[in-house]
This record gives sequence, C-alpha cells and structure tokens, in this order.
Amino acid sequence: TTPGPLQGRRILITAGPTREPVDPVRYLGNRSSGRMGFAVAAAARDAGARVTLVHGPCELAVPPGVQAHAVETAAEMHAAVLEALEGTEVFIATAAVADYRPATPAAQKLKKTREDLTLELERTPDILADVARRVDGLAARPLLVGFAAETGNLREYARDKLVAKGLDLVAANRVDGGRGFGHGDNSLLCLWPDGERELPRQPKDRLARELITLIAERLQTHPAN
Ligand code: C5P
Repeated sequence: TTPGPLQGRRILITAGPTREPVDPVRYLGNRSSGRMGFAVAAAARDAGARVTLVHGPCELAVPPGVQAHAVETAAEMHAAVLEALEGTEVFIATAAVADYRPATPAAQKLKKTREDLTLELERTPDILADVARRVDGLAARPLLVGFAAETGNLREYARDKLVAKGLDLVAANRVDGGRGFGHGDNSLLCLWPDGERELPRQPKDRLARELITLIAERLQTHPAN
C-alpha cells in the first residue's frame, strides 16, 4: 500500500460539545453531535496519521485505531489537550466548547422555589487560542486548524478568527438551513493567510477527507517542514 498524505504525522483533534455543571444533575450544553470531528479523526487515520481525539459527550463510536480521551467540561478538555500537545504536528479544533460556565456549580441539587433563578456565568478557557499562544515561537510549531460556525458574514468572521487566534487554517460553516450542528451534510469555506478553498456541501465523512487533503497540502508549506 502507498503511504497516505499524513503518513506518521501526529494529529490532535478536539470534537463534540462540552457540558458545564449547574449542579450534580444539571448542565449547560449545546447541540454539537461530534460527527464532524469524529469524521476528521477517521479521515486523518486513513491518511496515515497517528490520531489523538479529545472529545466531549457524544453518541458516536470511536474510530478504530484512534486514541480517544473522553472529557466532559471545557476545563477538562483544556487539560487533556495540553497533556497531549507535546509532539503534535497538526492541531484541529472541531469541538463546540462552551464559552461560559456556571461560576459556582452547586454541590447539592438546586431546589425550586417560587422565585426566579439567576445563574452567574464565567468565561471558559479558549483552548485553541491558548494552544496558539503556547506554541508561538516553538521551532516545531504545529499547524493550527480552527472551525468557525456562523449564521452570516462567513468569510469576514472566519478571516477575523484566523488572525485573532493566530491560526494557519480556518474551516467555516454555516449553521443555518439544515447544515452544521447535528446534521449529516455540511459545506466548508476554508481560509488560510494567502488563499481559500470552498469544499462543497456533502456528507461529513467525504467532507472530512477533503479537509484532510487540504491540511496535508498546507502542511507542505508550513515552516516546521
Ligand atoms: O471563537 P469561536 O468559539 O467561534 O472559535 C471557534 C474555534 O475555536 C473552534 O475551532 C473551537 O473548537 C475553538 N474553541 C476552543 N475553545 C473555546 C472556544 C472555541 O478551542 N473555549
């Protein structure tokens, strides 16, 4: 068999939603199924990569041959990513990480009263931005790939994200009209500092393979190579 385009490469991927506890029985979550990230993990494995997948709660089978770490919260995902970062050549952040979490989760189940309830929320760590800060200046800086789920102004918001987070590639998708979260089909507008490519709407497993092909191409021009 011929070697794949990512033969022997070490790829770290985040996938799925996170859950942020409100109390022992309740959480704040989102509608991410994890399907895109799991498909990217399988496609990277098929391209010959050694794949580590850090994922939130998903009802999906881990692709055989992929090293998986299941986590629940943004803080746990952040810690698992930092632990796996050493030696990573490509970091792909597909996870829909909660942006906010309850500031002080209750130790006991909250009892309902006649009053309304206000929850105080605090920011979670931005895992991708933190990885970008940590690897900045390293000789073997991994290629950093982010996702952007937007309902409008796709290209503009995605370009902003590329620059703001210091990324090498952003894959942007619309989350309206039957695409994106929880859906089988998706399309991606992929942007890098001096180019872009539209990957047309198709099932997520095929789309993931096209994304991996593009990532392998970008890796060829990456300084650490
Ligand atoms: O800023 P925004 O959430 O739109 O950025 C999305 C990208 O950043 C995705 O690649 C997502 O996985 C990543 N992200 C992250 N940690 C967060 C928020 C987003 O890694 N707390």
